[in-house]
Amino acid sequence: MAGPVPSAGASAGRNPLTQLTLADLRQRTSVKWRMHPPDVLPLWVAEMDVPLAPAVADVLRRAVDLGDTGYPHGTAYAEALGEFAAGRWGWHDFRVDHTTVVPDVMMGIVEVLRLVTDPGDAVVVCSPVYAPFYAFVSHAGRRMVEAPLGADLRIDPAALDDAFRRARAAGRRPAFLLANPHNPTGVVHRRDELETVAALADRHGVRVISDEIHAPIVLAGARFTPYLTVAGAENAFALTSASKAWNLAGLKAALAIAGPRAAADLRRMPEEVSHGPSHLGVLAHTAALRAGGPWLDLVLDGLDENRTLLATLLAKHLPSVTYHRPEGTYLAWLDCTALGVAAEQPAGEPGVASDLAGPARMFLDRARVALSSGHVFGTGGAGFVRLNFATAPEILTEAVTRMGRAVEASAG
Ligand SMILES: Cc1ncc(COP(=O)(O)O)c(C=O)c1O
Repeated sequence: MAGPVPSAGASAGRNPLTQLTLADLRQRTSVKWRMHPPDVLPLWVAEMDVPLAPAVADVLRRAVDLGDTGYPHGTAYAEALGEFAAGRWGWHDFRVDHTTVVPDVMMGIVEVLRLVTDPGDAVVVCSPVYAPFYAFVSHAGRRMVEAPLGADLRIDPAALDDAFRRARAAGRRPAFLLANPHNPTGVVHRRDELETVAALADRHGVRVISDEIHAPIVLAGARFTPYLTVAGAENAFALTSASKAWNLAGLKAALAIAGPRAAADLRRMPEEVSHGPSHLGVLAHTAALRAGGPWLDLVLDGLDENRTLLATLLAKHLPSVTYHRPEGTYLAWLDCTALGVAAEQPAGEPGVASDLAGPARMFLDRARVALSSGHVFGTGGAGFVRLNFATAPEILTEAVTRMGRAVEASAG
């Protein structure tokens, strides 16, 4: 029987990634821990193996004690984001009146797409990219146009220019769905890169929707640039929440933010969209942004250590795998093409996050480690895996050791 899970209050000042044991984590009922049998180490979906931040747990506990479980009200969430954005990123002209609460980032993206594109219009993405972009966009009746990342995994302006031209030719009102920072590569786009995006979007008449859900998770050495602070981005949108940085995916509430020339579009968002976010979600995300900064800093330090540990582990156990050190997120994009397993299995369609092929299938079957399969992230993803390193160093070590053994056994 697993021991008691440490209370969030007891965790102040320590690395949140080292506070839960595998036995604690296996008591969880979320998809990360229940998708695969208990002998599998799950390093796939973007959930973190941390207790709840004390500031968030306290607010939720108080709401439960009060029976404060009605409908959300007010603009506290947007105000908290505005304060966080000013403090962390120097975003001082953040406008609370240019925001609206949406159920989550993906639903917010779909609702913004409905405002600025029509069915059949093209949506550009920089592939490989977060798999649900494909599913949500195509299920909303829009067509995907890919602008593959460059060999350095950064946005390729020539590919983007070409994709914008094709998107424009294909429909009346194209959009660009930007992952800022980028998932799965962990690249944090620089301001000059985003200025290039804005200039290209302006030239081709493309509306930009910037998914900034990973924005608070930028590691030492990189700096996050909110897209709406970039020159030329006035008619763009951003979507964000505290979901990734404070592990709140189960507490639904996100924010859509309009640039000054997109505010009128955002006001056309149907009223019923605001019925989706939950009051507990709004309370939790607000508390995270307002009072969860010190806890986040401990997580960021822990992630930075894991980022380095992963490099050491890969060099030792999987030297033929190429690791592009991520600048942000807690996701590592691993080039496994040299393992020679990519061709073993046919790659499926992009978009189904849990679908497995090639190296990810091999690591699940032979190492009992669950990773995200590269092919689901679109063109350029086959032969790669995405590894979530927001876990305890011991679990990371065990996972990579097992992966190395599996490759060694299949070679021998
Ligand atoms: C880039 C990106 N966007 C959106 C999401 C999902 O956000 P939500 O659960 O708020 O829809 C994720 C989750 O990992 C993500 O990585």
